[in-house]
Amino acid sequence: MKVYFKDSNIATKNLTPKISVYGEELILEDEEYRIWNPRRSKLAAALLNGLEKLELEDTSKVLYLGASTGTTVSHISDIVVNGRIYAVEFSPTTAKKLIRLSRQRPNIAPILADATKPKTYLNIVEKTDLIYCDVAQPTQTQLFMKNMNLFCKENGVGLLMIKARSIDVVQKPKKIFKEQEKKLKEKGFRIIEKVKLEPYEKDHIGLLVEKNF
Ligand SMILES: C[S@@+](CC[C@H](N)C(=O)[O-])C[C@H]1O[C@@H](n2cnc3c(N)ncnc32)[C@H](O)[C@@H]1O
Repeated sequence: MKVYFKDSNIATKNLTPKISVYGEELILEDEEYRIWNPRRSKLAAALLNGLEKLELEDTSKVLYLGASTGTTVSHISDIVVNGRIYAVEFSPTTAKKLIRLSRQRPNIAPILADATKPKTYLNIVEKTDLIYCDVAQPTQTQLFMKNMNLFCKENGVGLLMIKARSIDVVQKPKKIFKEQEKKLKEKGFRIIEKVKLEPYEKDHIGLLVEKNF
């Protein structure tokens, strides 16, 4: 995966030179790079914390659930240069920025839809190598599995970012994470790698998952 580690930072090569997407620093060396902020992107936090089994090629296809304004999407767009990111977001206000971003970056396909109803975008989205889920909703494990069942390639993976407080504000995060893992295993998913997102995000975990076909 084309992610560059330098000192305590990570960066991606900027697909759209001179354009900063969310105020991130641009660095000019042999090429232009964008610093990937782990406090703004859970994927950057996971990579800095040692996530090692996620592989993205420049032709990879990604289904991204909870794209928001496109902060993380933009870095994935730097990596899968000749691939595609189907970026699902259900807030029309938030999606405006995402749509603007997709005009600059042809590998982003913005989709204004509810990720709990994946059949509504069945005709638009192809099978993907990665399904990334960061919707911060109580039922996100269920919607993640629904999307995995419909869109994951046979050798594809899913990355589920879990925020304990979005699921239950009272229960201990450890217990919440265990319950979500149990739900995944009961439905035939295997956890390949687990990574905590501290110190960048409190009480969050990232689960890299594959489906047993
Ligand atoms: C934590 S933010 C995502 C941040 C983003 N992943 C990033 O790193 O740049 C969660 C987003 O998920 C969206 N969302 C929540 N429920 C959703 C659903 N059912 N379908 C699609 N998007 C949803 C919210 O509107 C919000 O923009």
